[in-house]
Amino acid sequence: MIINKPPMGWNSWNTFGAEINEELIMEMADKIVELGYKDAGYDYIIIDDCWSEMQRNENGELVCDKKKFPHGMKYISDYIHSKGLKFGMYTCVGVKTCAGYPSSFGYEFIDAKTFASWEIDYLKCDFGYFPFNADCKQIYKTMAMALQNSGRDILFSACNWGRHDSVKWMNSIGAHTYRSTGDIFDSFTSFRDIFVSQVKNLPYTSIGSYNDMDMLIVGMNGKGNVAQGGCTEEEYKSHFALWCLFQSPLIIGADIRNLDDFSKNLLLNKELIKINQDSAARPCQLVYDANGIWYSFIKELSDGDYILAYFNASDEETQGQIFFYDIGLPVYSKVGLKMTDLFTGESLGVVTESYTPTLAPHCCKIYRAKFVDLP
Ligand code: GLA
Repeated sequence: MIINKPPMGWNSWNTFGAEINEELIMEMADKIVELGYKDAGYDYIIIDDCWSEMQRNENGELVCDKKKFPHGMKYISDYIHSKGLKFGMYTCVGVKTCAGYPSSFGYEFIDAKTFASWEIDYLKCDFGYFPFNADCKQIYKTMAMALQNSGRDILFSACNWGRHDSVKWMNSIGAHTYRSTGDIFDSFTSFRDIFVSQVKNLPYTSIGSYNDMDMLIVGMNGKGNVAQGGCTEEEYKSHFALWCLFQSPLIIGADIRNLDDFSKNLLLNKELIKINQDSAARPCQLVYDANGIWYSFIKELSDGDYILAYFNASDEETQGQIFFYDIGLPVYSKVGLKMTDLFTGESLGVVTESYTPTLAPHCCKIYRAKFVDLP
């Protein structure tokens, strides 16, 4: 199976942790459609950890928790599919899931068949309780093979937190997305540190295998299972724009049933989503890293436009820079960049030689640029 853009959807973990059940998941499926998220591209509903019984059945198969999911997983799967959505589930390659439930180590082929029988479309394979002396790369390869042989197209979302240099080989073993860091929490420092840690991994982005910087915290506003004080609006804007820029999967973690307008509009920002879903998947290029204080990037899109992005990672106001000769555009080219702010939709007109915006603390500015001949 080949995918040609990062998956988008909703996952139960960030808000609900273990507090999941049939009714909740089905309601999320209703809301993701009703509230316009599906139309914007969010089409996976993913159940994370804590969905199973504590024991496998007599055939060694995983079984879902009968209290949480009284009608079984195929029932949920059918419901999700009836809404035109796709269904994702969760396991680990270790001996238990992170929350201590039965996991797939040694059971990869059995479990892949079970998941396929429930007609899932996406499987997150986490790294909890991984045996110290086992071979991580080999196990993810085994899981990929098991999914390939399951009789169903299942997106393989590998999640080993970037351990064992996995950004370098997850693509080769068949992962469609690969979690490259530890868990995100709902705070500026959490997403800032994840982002900064992945700047060096930009070159590994490619069509069909995307660096997963973990689920979105937009809209969590200090509540839920990964609460850590929350972020300001400016910070959530930066988080979302940077995840789009790096083409990380866009998996909402907030409770979409009752998001405030700011969060909803941000998650539905068409222009930013277009960058995330760009079919060329060219890694963006770091222009400057000002000692970790601020960063600037350019990214070439499939239609030939460029993205110019600036991020102030520090607590002080600063000035971001891109001198156009530093991105290969000669001063005497007689070409300028017609720039549009992707948060406000405002045009900056045609800009020549450089663009050096003032950046408030923690702020990201992001523009689409078209080349235009100067008179
Ligand atoms: C790990 C993962 C998280 C989540 C939890 C569930 O911490 O990184 O994304 O899946 O396990 O227990």
